[in-house]
Amino acid sequence: MYDVPPQGGRRAVVTGASGGLGLEVARRLAGAGAEVVLAVRSPERGERAAAAIREDHPGARLEVRTLDLADLASVARVAEGLLDEGRPLHLLANNAGVMRPRRRTETVDGLELQFATNVVGHYALSARLAPLLTRSGGARVAWMSSSAAHVGRLDLGDLQATRRYRPFRAYAQSKLADLVLALFMAERAAASGANLASMAAHPGYVRTNLFSAGASVGRSRPRRSLLEARWLPHQEVDWGAEPLLVALTSPEAANGAYYGPAGPWGLVGPATLVRAPRRATREGLGARLAEALAELTGVELAL
Ligand SMILES: NC(=O)c1ccc[n+]([C@@H]2O[C@H](COP(=O)([O-])OP(=O)(O)OC[C@H]3O[C@@H](n4cnc5c(N)ncnc54)[C@H](OP(=O)(O)O)[C@@H]3O)[C@@H](O)[C@H]2O)c1
Repeated sequence: MYDVPPQGGRRAVVTGASGGLGLEVARRLAGAGAEVVLAVRSPERGERAAAAIREDHPGARLEVRTLDLADLASVARVAEGLLDEGRPLHLLANNAGVMRPRRRTETVDGLELQFATNVVGHYALSARLAPLLTRSGGARVAWMSSSAAHVGRLDLGDLQATRRYRPFRAYAQSKLADLVLALFMAERAAASGANLASMAAHPGYVRTNLFSAGASVGRSRPRRSLLEARWLPHQEVDWGAEPLLVALTSPEAANGAYYGPAGPWGLVGPATLVRAPRRATREGLGARLAEALAELTGVELAL
């Protein structure tokens, strides 16, 4: 199991820290001494998550902030709050996600829900926080992708799937976009000499709420997703969180690195460096995606 190096004096924001992989990432960072902001859409679930972490680490320094990534005003409020306080911020874990609502669902901003939550909200948060991160010293942003990115296709002409909505295709596109953004941020930081590193990770296969939360959007009763295949090798959140933790904290993790499980089909096993699919590294793709996101959000990624 990966031992997070001492994080005393470091401050982290973890999105989607109310459960699943995000809660485990927050728990391990807090256990290593980081001060952790649990950025969650439900304050009640956030407080429950904080209480669960304190059971393991009574001295944990935690703060719950309400963040709805599917609402750009909420993203702006959280980012402005952190910027106004001006306290250093060293780690940003872009982890929260939603998968495969059966019907195309629009957010308050009129965006498709998966793209909005998984990509647009995290882009806006990262771009707004970039000035704070870059002046905090050795900051890292880590983006949670998925092996779904390997079959994703970015349709820059219809990122919101307005023409045709296919649930898995929209999810795979969003996870590919997360990977493309991680690599683009890394490239920009390297080119400008900004004191910031950007990494990506995927957790393999972990049976979390992800498989029911998305499938239940718009339903009165919870549904399970057909993608929750019990026969596939799977791992628990402690292992699933490791690629993101390594990306965020390992001294060996380099700007632009991508981590995932080393075991069969990349579904399970200890975190290792993995190769980004060619579809994520196409020349100019990151710049075009960032341009589209800047237009959608009104926020430039100034690195
Ligand atoms: N589990 C896997 O096998 C797997 C595989 C590949 C990639 N991933 C990725 O790993 C990440 C974490 O997923 P997980 O497996 O831990 O799933 P999870 O248990 O369902 O956790 C998802 C988290 O995202 C939060 N979230 C959803 N919509 C949000 C919004 N609009 N604003 C803020 N937070 C929101 C959820 O908050 P609530 O508590 O409010 O619902 C929850 O904390 C996701 O990005 C997912 O795509 C997971």
